[in-house]
Amino acid sequence: MSVYYSEYLALDKIINAQHPISFKEGNEPAHDEMLFIVIHQAYELWFKQILFEVNSVTEIMGKDTIDDNSAELQTVVHRLQRVATILKVLVQQIDIMETMTPLDFLDFRDMLRPASGFQSYQFKILEAKLGLKFEHRHGQCYYTSQLQQKDIDIIKEAEAGNTVLELLNRWLERMPFFEDENYWKNYISISKKYENGTNVNHSAFWNDYENIYADNLSEAEKINVDHFKNILFDAQKSERSLSSAACKSALFIMIYRGYPMLELPFQLLDTLLEIDNQLGNWRYRHMNMVRRMIGTRIGTGGSTGAGYLQGAIDKHNIFKEISQLSSFLIDRRKLPKLPKEITDKLGYQA
Ligand code: HEM
Repeated sequence: MSVYYSEYLALDKIINAQHPISFKEGNEPAHDEMLFIVIHQAYELWFKQILFEVNSVTEIMGKDTIDDNSAELQTVVHRLQRVATILKVLVQQIDIMETMTPLDFLDFRDMLRPASGFQSYQFKILEAKLGLKFEHRHGQCYYTSQLQQKDIDIIKEAEAGNTVLELLNRWLERMPFFEDENYWKNYISISKKYENGTNVNHSAFWNDYENIYADNLSEAEKINVDHFKNILFDAQKSERSLSSAACKSALFIMIYRGYPMLELPFQLLDTLLEIDNQLGNWRYRHMNMVRRMIGTRIGTGGSTGAGYLQGAIDKHNIFKEISQLSSFLIDRRKLPKLPKEITDKLGYQA
């Protein structure tokens, strides 16, 4: 049988799935309620697609090792870039929502209680799958309070499963250069501590890096050297999502990303930051819209409204441990010169 457009897309279901409460008998129809429903449905469809991409990414990254000689990493990056692109569009869709005025909204707002985007289980699953832990949530005591048990269960399941952030940590820890000292035996240190080729290992490289970094900080910024040491050499995994080994690899990727083999790993880190950035943009625009729409009134979902949303903006920054590494970058002209054993690996000729 030939495929028929509207059947293939199940349009009968989708196009007939808008049921404004204000249009029901006994109520006064509020024109803008249709827009309100359609825009939420459009968002939820895009959330579905985003989750589809993210799930496929955790599946690939969850394997024992990502095969570097295959398209796997490329697929991961490509799908995450798609997620970032969808999120960009979702930020812009707030423009459409804002064509509704606060008075238009009041025409039907009270009929919606307690329904709210706060009950979007797909949004919460997305946050959890990317790596937002329960401990780091704003409004922990009520973030699932308005949800039905079946939805709470799938959010909890997402929180307990492999997250993109955890898998990223694992993948970064696997980077070979700081485990095998053979890569560093010909490294020429600029520090007297490692003179005459004695003791040369990857610590010599990081020692040089730290000295160059410290020399280039202003007096007011010298405290950053302590952060550098803590994060790169002594990160307590219980308090952080990325281990010291993972942070070393991520910083290495960021500073030497000009080498061909680090281009894709760099894109992976950069795309995750872009996802955080777009989620942040969405949160900010959504919160401003909420302020304009309901002022300081509490949300239909029972939170403090704009106050809760501001707290989520401040706390729900999932990949912040990657962006923090930018504090430790040094001018690329001053970067330590890598030994041939490593540059061979990082180039096309390896
Ligand atoms: C008139 C338009 C809107 C208003 C006044 C509004 C209001 C709010 C408020 C006050 C909250 C805080 C929770 C609560 O309800 O107590 C919230 C959360 C939320 N809203 Fe909206 N919203 C609007 C449109 C949208 C749209 C179009 C979406 C798209 C899906 C959306 C998605 C969400 C999500 C995902 C949350 C949870 C955010 C988080 O937990 O960080 N909202 N909304």
